[in-house]
Amino acid sequence: MSTSPIIELNGVRIFQRENLVLNNVDFTVHPGEFLYLIGRTGSGKSSLMRTLYGDLPLAHGEGSVCGFDLRKLERSEVPYLRRKLGIVFQDFQLLSDRNVNDNLVFVMKSTGWKDNKAIEQRVQEVMEQVGLGNKGYKMPHELSGGEQQRVSIARALVNHPELIIADEPTGNLDPETTEEILDLLFNISKTGSSVIMATHDYTHMKKLNVRVVRCEEGKLLEVSAAAAQ
Ligand SMILES: Nc1ncnc2c1ncn2[C@@H]1O[C@H](COP(=O)(O)OP(=O)(O)O)[C@@H](O)[C@H]1O
Ligand SMILES: [Mg+2]
Repeated sequence: MSTSPIIELNGVRIFQRENLVLNNVDFTVHPGEFLYLIGRTGSGKSSLMRTLYGDLPLAHGEGSVCGFDLRKLERSEVPYLRRKLGIVFQDFQLLSDRNVNDNLVFVMKSTGWKDNKAIEQRVQEVMEQVGLGNKGYKMPHELSGGEQQRVSIARALVNHPELIIADEPTGNLDPETTEEILDLLFNISKTGSSVIMATHDYTHMKKLNVRVVRCEEGKLLEVSAAAAQ
C-alpha cells in the first residue's frame, strides 16, 4: 500500500469569486487519518472541501488529492477523482423516488459497476457496515435523519474510497444521533479510508483526542483537540 499523502496542499489560496477565503494553506493528510475541520460559519470549511473534491478549481499554489494534481485537473477528470472519494453532506442528498438499495445501485452503475450480483453483494456489505443491513428496501422518507445519514455514508463507501469528505454531516441531527454518526465515521477511518469532517461538535473530538484543524481569519491552523472550542 502506498504511504504517500492522500491530500497535500502547499501555498494554496482559496477564493470565492474575488474574495480570498483562505491564504497560504499548507495541509497534509495521510492514509487512514481522521481529522476534524472546525471554524465559524463563513470561515472557509466548505470552500476548502470543495477544492479537495474538484468543485472549486485550484488556481493558486500546489495541491494533490488521491494522486490527482488539482492545478492540472480538467473538468472531464473530476468524475475520476470523485470515484476515489466518498462525499457526505449535511442534507443527505438521497434520491426520494427509490428505495435505499436503489440509491446505492444508482451511484454504482454511474461509476462503472455492471455485474448485478457484485452490485447486490457490495450494497449489502456497506449497508451492514453502517448498521442498516435489513433496511435496504425502505424508502428514504421512511427512515430517521440518522438512518438517512447512514445511507449516505454507505453510498460514500461503495467504491472503497481513499478519502471521505464529510461537510457538517451531523448538522441536522440530535446530539445522540450525532454521536453515533461520528463514531461510525471514526471507525471507517480505522479500515483505511482517511476521513476529513467539518463539524461544530466539540464533545466528540475531545473524547477521541484526534487531529483538529481550524479555519480562522483566512488561515488554516492546526489546533489541539483539548483547545478546540
Ligand atoms: N458560492 C459562493 N459564492 C460566493 N461566495 C461564497 C460562496 N460560497 C461561500 N462563499 C463565501 O466564502 C466564504 C467562506 O464560506 P464557506 O466556505 O461556505 O464557509 P463555511 O463552510 O466555513 O461556513 C464566506 O464569506 C462565504 O460567504
Ligand atoms: Mg460550510
